[in-house]
Amino acid sequence: MTTRISVNGVIGDDHAQISVLDRGFLYGDSIYEVLRTYRGEPWALEPHLDRLQKSAELLMMGRIDRALIEREMRATIAAAVDAGDGGGGEKHDESYVRVIVTRGTGPISLDLAVAAAPSRVIIVTPVRALDPALYQRGVKVFVVHASGSAVAATHGAKSGNYLPNILALARAREHDAHEALLVDAHGHIAEGSSSNVFARYGETLCTPPLDVGILEGITRRTIIELGREAGMTVEERNLTPEELAAADEVFLTSTLREVLPVTRVDGVLADGDGTLTEETLVGDGKPGAVAHALRRAYRRRVGDPLP
Ligand SMILES: Cc1ncc(COP(=O)(O)O)c(C=O)c1O
Repeated sequence: MTTRISVNGVIGDDHAQISVLDRGFLYGDSIYEVLRTYRGEPWALEPHLDRLQKSAELLMMGRIDRALIEREMRATIAAAVDAGDGGGGEKHDESYVRVIVTRGTGPISLDLAVAAAPSRVIIVTPVRALDPALYQRGVKVFVVHASGSAVAATHGAKSGNYLPNILALARAREHDAHEALLVDAHGHIAEGSSSNVFARYGETLCTPPLDVGILEGITRRTIIELGREAGMTVEERNLTPEELAAADEVFLTSTLREVLPVTRVDGVLADGDGTLTEETLVGDGKPGAVAHALRRAYRRRVGDPLP
């Protein structure tokens, strides 16, 4: 296997270690980014480093060393790809890259002042492509009414503390859904456990606004641009689960999914008469043409067009 992991600049294999006294382990007191390469090059590196910096500020972690992280990331990608070439592992062209910065180690205490220097961990492993059938058939999402704090726990930061999202996804999986959609205390859709969501009504694309407390997805941002370039109106506005289920099309966006059509919305929804229904087809229950066109446009934008 061609996983390579850098811990504070020292590259190892998947046995790489970090102290159990690290606050990332003890408290999820860490921030992270997930990016991937297209044609070997990390896509949207600057926006990901910008978001890492923003997360650092939201968690009162100060400035990150962007140049150092970029150097270590490139070295780890190169090591993973080289190992795939000659080290007996399987060759892979595209890398999944996870960059984690924790507040570091220290005595066990919630007081962040006791932490020593931040720890940097960079995990590079082959990109695991999603099953192509998911794009052909579309996926089911399951609406989870999280408590207000669950949705807003990270306030737009990508922190290591993902338990609300993990539990929401577990509930979705119990209902055979691909992704959970978190709903905030006001009944508005926020985001997926690891994705953003869009709904199309005619020529208008709608996606929840950032002030719901969501993570600003880098893919979301690109899709907003591509939608506008294609002549569509894009609105960042609140959506209820019922409005979502009544859309002409729904799709998820994320670094690893790109643009993934949603064909079924589950969870407890009210239909037009206020009757509660459990599962609703989106549109005619087939993946929409706009999601497909946007995925194609996205792949052109990242420099790796779909065949
Ligand atoms: C909570 C959450 N929202 C949205 C996203 C999508 O972000 P991106 O498009 O930058 O991958 C992610 C990605 O993991 C996420 O964890």
